[in-house]
Amino acid sequence: MDVSGKVAFVTGGASGIGFGIAGALAARGAKIMLADIDAAQLEKAAARLSATTDVGTVICDVGDEQAVRAAAAATIEKFGKVHIVVNNAGVGAGGRAGEVAIEDWRWIVDINLMGVVYGVEIFTPLIKSHGEGGYFINTASMAGHVSSPAMAPYHATKFAVVGYSEALKDDLIQDGIGISVLCPAWVRTHIYKSHLSSPTGKSGLGVARDESTLSAMQQVVENGITPELVGEWTADCVEVDRFYIFTHPSMLQYIDDRHSEIRADYAACAADERLAAEPDALPIPT
Ligand SMILES: NC(=O)c1ccc[n+]([C@@H]2O[C@H](COP(=O)([O-])OP(=O)(O)OC[C@H]3O[C@@H](n4cnc5c(N)ncnc54)[C@H](O)[C@@H]3O)[C@@H](O)[C@H]2O)c1
Repeated sequence: MDVSGKVAFVTGGASGIGFGIAGALAARGAKIMLADIDAAQLEKAAARLSATTDVGTVICDVGDEQAVRAAAAATIEKFGKVHIVVNNAGVGAGGRAGEVAIEDWRWIVDINLMGVVYGVEIFTPLIKSHGEGGYFINTASMAGHVSSPAMAPYHATKFAVVGYSEALKDDLIQDGIGISVLCPAWVRTHIYKSHLSSPTGKSGLGVARDESTLSAMQQVVENGITPELVGEWTADCVEVDRFYIFTHPSMLQYIDDRHSEIRADYAACAADERLAAEPDALPIPT
């Protein structure tokens, strides 16, 4: 997709990866609507981008369907149309099995998964309506491909965003809409403390539920790559319509290890005489 002259709606756009993507799209000539829950940060972000492009802002909690509908309407009101939707806002929550409050589970599912669903369901008809094509960038994570202990709520939502985006790919293309799923590992942002605004404020990522985990998470995140680089690379990938956007070349072994385990367990099913004697499954309808 040529992003020049297009209108991009970016959730979680006031800071971190969302702002990095917004900046890269703006530098390539896109007009930007920044959506976020942080009003003060939104205004600072808009001021920084306004030197480069035409910018609008809207307060929007992506976990609230009506708020996303209102943000979509505000985008159309300001720019007349929308082409690119960056479903990026997300939070972290974790903890060991049996120790995560159900309200914290609902909170992260509402933001990390339903926020993306609302973005796709609400904006797809708006993109289709102008017939100029469009693009979704859904921010998942490497945590949507491989898992680690005490981060199940985060992994569950990010695996869901990867699977959801894969399922959308062949569907959207029929309407001239492209899609990428962004899968970074550590990026230097404030994600490590996002759980503090969850209902209990206690379900942080990692095994221990104390300050040491927060500072360990802070350390790995602060040693990550910059959101600006993630934004640049994301814009590069969108321009060539690359579906999976990975940002950390050193993580491939984790994906290979997961696939090896899947293949080994699949081989066990293929080796079972009772299962192998059954007729072949019908192909998946496409
Ligand atoms: N930082 C990393 O290491 C990393 C790695 C992989 C994936 N991600 C993903 O990147 C995305 C962006 O996170 P980040 O690292 O930039 O974090 P961040 O906390 O620095 O920025 C997130 C932005 O989203 C906003 N936000 C939070 N909840 C919101 C809501 N309900 N509605 C609208 N806006 C909301 C925040 O105000 C903030 O401006 C998330 O989906 C996250 O899961 C981050």
